[in-house]
Amino acid sequence: MGDGTPAQTIDVLGVSVVVARADLNHPLQQGNKRWKLKHNIQAAQQKNAEVVITFGGAHSNHLLATAHAAHQAGLSVLGVVRGHELQDRPAVWSETLHQCQQLGMQLVFISRADYRLKQAAPVVQALRQAKPTAYLIPEGGSNQLAVQGVADWLQGWAAHLAEPPTHVLCPVGTGGTLAGLVKGAQAMDWRTWLGGVVVLKGMRSLAADIRRWVGPDTAQVQWELLTEFHGGGYAKLSDEMLRFGVTFSQQTGVPLDKIYNIKSFYALAQMIQAGRIGIQDRPLLIHTGGLQGGSLSPPQVPTEPE
Ligand SMILES: Cc1ncc(COP(=O)(O)O)c(C=O)c1O
Repeated sequence: MGDGTPAQTIDVLGVSVVVARADLNHPLQQGNKRWKLKHNIQAAQQKNAEVVITFGGAHSNHLLATAHAAHQAGLSVLGVVRGHELQDRPAVWSETLHQCQQLGMQLVFISRADYRLKQAAPVVQALRQAKPTAYLIPEGGSNQLAVQGVADWLQGWAAHLAEPPTHVLCPVGTGGTLAGLVKGAQAMDWRTWLGGVVVLKGMRSLAADIRRWVGPDTAQVQWELLTEFHGGGYAKLSDEMLRFGVTFSQQTGVPLDKIYNIKSFYALAQMIQAGRIGIQDRPLLIHTGGLQGGSLSPPQVPTEPE
């Protein structure tokens, strides 16, 4: 349906859970990436942007998805990559960076200190001066247009469901995806609880960012950030989570990435075990992809959100 995201119903501890298998919607613009990029790429085209500029680490799903989306749209694209040490050393690049380059993305490597400054970094300022019509997409791809893309997807995809879900869960990095789901649920007037499973430790600005993206009218929709399932921090996992993920994937055939979805699926199982979600409920879990680097045993362990 819609963008090719299948719905799969699975049994989790006796509860029937609908999984939106967005990991299957596209090989490179997988999961939430596709929804977040859609309106941004259109905006870049409408503005006749000479180049799309975005940011990411060496293993960034977002960087690769943007490279592919820009390539498809016939737009030039430049990726600002964290890690000056990678400059001129393609032999040590990740597969992601090689793929980005093959798709025509120009790669500019900057130091970690500069990377922290993001759009204010001197290299980025210089690029913007040299290319005044450049279209900037922030790290992780979250902005208002990305949020709208997720909201639009949910509204289109909801035709899969006989009834609105009682609970919706997704993993959270920057919060753009959760904000979009809240907006979409709000537009459909769902009386639903949405939970965002935060994969990082100590992200204080998340709730404020999400509130800003969602806007003031949250009507009947309640949302919450679940901060107890980070498993030790970004790209870290507790042993229990890892065991859960391996068993779960074997039993259901649903592959999970180690950074995002293992934590949201684990959180759902924990909530069912704790009685917060029961057999009378209709939970929906959004599988946001992240499997470009493989499932459960990806070679890469990035250090910050991508
Ligand atoms: C696979 C995957 N799932 C979830 C997320 C988190 O999405 P968001 O940053 O919109 O919270 C990301 C990062 O964008 C991701 O790559």
